[in-house]
Parts: sequence; structure tokens; C-alpha cells
Amino acid sequence: SNKIKNAKLVLLGDAGTGKSSLVLRYVKGQFVEFQESTIGAAFFSQAVAVNDETVKFEIWDTAGQERYHSLAPMYYRGAAAAVIVYDITNLIPLIIIQATFARAKKWVQELQAQGSPNTIMALAGNKADLLEARQVSAQEAETYANENGLFYMETSAKTAINVTDIFYETAKRLIQA
Ligand code: GTP
Ligand code: MG
Repeated sequence: SNKIKNAKLVLLGDAGTGKSSLVLRYVKGQFVEFQESTIGAAFFSQAVAVNDETVKFEIWDTAGQERYHSLAPMYYRGAAAAVIVYDITNLIPLIIIQATFARAKKWVQELQAQGSPNTIMALAGNKADLLEARQVSAQEAETYANENGLFYMETSAKTAINVTDIFYETAKRLIQA
């Protein structure tokens, strides 16, 4: 018997970390070098089979720019899963080192305080193709994730490393929950 589970999933993280690029890679198998910054939020859906069950993700790709922060609760409220994205390189002009990792930690705190208690949380260290520009070590992120109830993966929307995997792992954990 194939059970179907609808699951609201929200992507959160600083502007430019690659949230839209991860979704575009996952849902359409595409990558663009000049992805436009999201306004408000964008919606996608994607089904994933795990053993004999199907998880239908209803994906909210939120806008990372600070001016949209107040909209975020609409998207994470009732979410079964959250993927919190930072950029391992922090190659964002005029932003200090580790800024996107620090922002990711703030999202985790906000979810822990205001979100649903059993939301599955994934931490994506994105742009893993840019290893030579790394500013946040895998060890540091892994330790943080373990201590805060998230699972951690390094992803690249550009090369597709771990993109299907992070959504699949999320679906697996949803089914086990
Ligand atoms: P907002 O919508 O403003 O919150 O940003 P976002 O998190 O959706 O980032 P977006 O997907 O727009 O990506 C920002 C830029 O980073 C784009 O120019 C992408 O091409 C680039 N980018 C995204 N993911 C990767 C990646 O894995 N590797 C590399 N090298 N570049 C990436
Ligand atoms: Mg975006």
C-alpha cells in the first residue's frame, strides 16, 4: 500500500546563499549563474518516494533579504521540515566572514522558539563546489548541527552534490517521525 504524506517544507537563510538555486536544481535539474533574488517567496512541489511511501513536498522558497523577515512565520508555521541554508564561502559582497552561518543559527533559534516543536531541520552548507574559498569548516557546522537537533549536509546547487540527498534524507526522517 503506497501511503502519501503531504509535507510543508520551508527554505530559510540569508540572501544569496542559494535557496532558490537548490530548489531549482532539485525540482527542475537546472542551475543558473545569475539567479534573481527572490521577492516574498516562491512555491514549488515535488514528490519523493521512500520505500513504499510517497512524500509530497510543498516547498516554500523564502526571500532572504532582511526586509522580508516579517513574512517568514507564514512560511515556517506548520512546516513539517525546514532546510536552513548558509554559504560555506560567505562570498557575499560587503558582508563579514561567517555572516551567513551566523544568520543560519539565528533561523534555528527562531524556529526553536516559534516553530512547531517536531519540525525536521536540515542545515545545508551550500556552494560546496567553492572549497578553496571556504570560511566555515565542515567540522564546525557538523558540531553545531549535532548540538542543535539538525542534520547537516554540504550541498552544491551548481554541481548537484547532495541536493537530491538532503531532500531525500528529510523525507526519510519525516516518515520515521
Ligand atoms: P534570496 O532569494 O535573495 O534569498 O537568495 P537565494 O538564497 O535564493 O540565492 P540564489 O539561489 O538566488 O543564489 C545566489 C547566487 O549564488 C546566484 O548567483 C547563484 O548562481 C549562486 N549559487 C547558488 N548556489 C550555488 C552553488 O552551489 N555554487 C555556486 N558556485 N554558486 C551558487
Ligand atoms: Mg531566492
